[in-house]
Amino acid sequence: MGDSVSTDHDWPEPVVPVQSIADSGAAFIPTRYVKPPADRPTAATGRQLDIPAVDLGHLAADDPAKRQAATRAISDACRDWGFFQAVNHGVDGELVRAVAAVWSDFFHLPVAEKKKLANSPTTYEGYGSRLGVEKDASLDWGDYFFLNLLPKSARNHDKWPKLPLTCRETTEEYGRQTVKLCGAVMKALSVGLGLHEGFLEEKFGGEGGAGACMRVCYYPKCPQPELTLGLSAHSDPGGLTVLLAADDCVPGLQVRRGHEWVPVRPLPGALIVNVGDQIQVLSNATFKSVEHRVVVNAMTDRLSIAFFYNPNGNLLLEPAKELVTLECPPLYHPMTFNQYRQYIRKNGPRGKAQVESHRIIYNNSYA
Ligand code: OGA
Ligand code: NI
Repeated sequence: MGDSVSTDHDWPEPVVPVQSIADSGAAFIPTRYVKPPADRPTAATGRQLDIPAVDLGHLAADDPAKRQAATRAISDACRDWGFFQAVNHGVDGELVRAVAAVWSDFFHLPVAEKKKLANSPTTYEGYGSRLGVEKDASLDWGDYFFLNLLPKSARNHDKWPKLPLTCRETTEEYGRQTVKLCGAVMKALSVGLGLHEGFLEEKFGGEGGAGACMRVCYYPKCPQPELTLGLSAHSDPGGLTVLLAADDCVPGLQVRRGHEWVPVRPLPGALIVNVGDQIQVLSNATFKSVEHRVVVNAMTDRLSIAFFYNPNGNLLLEPAKELVTLECPPLYHPMTFNQYRQYIRKNGPRGKAQVESHRIIYNNSYA
């Protein structure tokens, strides 16, 4: 696409891959990565909570009661937790392993090789190590690769890795199958809102209108994991996120539940699904886009693949008229996703600050 060759100069300061700090064998992390005490990972509270698990195979069951129960389970999870684990999700298990393997191979290439695909803050496509363009900002202990998948016109293969050789086709096939999974979840959520099953998909732009992108996250092992985060607390700006925790035995992702951070323990073969800000807005906060963060550890690297299913970037999105009443007025100002996503690109992860900043302020008591 139209952006110029990206260099470090597009960022406010040179970008240092976290992997190169980790590989240097340093015993201490640079101060830029040290979080304020309140944001540091806290020891487990002892109470073992888990995000709900839903068998998506039931959505296609012959028995209507089974279909309804699965639809209900998805809605309940997205209302209460903003997150669930999808088992029997329809994405081929071999493909899930293959996409994890190609991206693991990519991140094991030498840093200099990956830096040839270094990204810029204009589009974020490519290999990067920071979100946000503020100079001297606090940094997270993670590298990533970002790419666009949909609309197809936004695919920029020049920016995709040439190695491993199967990277492109495996990623595209994973994208195709994951879009289907998102379609099934979008239907269930539409029905959960009491609307027709195509409702959310239409709001996303209808057939061929939605957007999709992927962020492969690589969290190198860290000599002082208790002082930093792999990814600071944030809510996802888009529609739905499907997360593949490639090393499912390496913990890292945590989900906010009130004042607690609940560690996600991925079930073997499961994909983790969560609601982003756009579905919170469209559903007028029936479904919650919940803050989450990633902690790192001293023993192993961790790789995850976040697939983002988004509304078309040019459509004005606002709380669905069908859900708005006098008692239940619209909670958010209309905006396009293209406008909306600039915030996280400029400011980096900032909890739920962005969606809150779009709230409509009412002077009376009911909103
Ligand atoms: C993200 C994200 C979680 C993870 O990329 O938005 O939340 O486990 N990733 O890497
Ligand atoms: Ni996220």
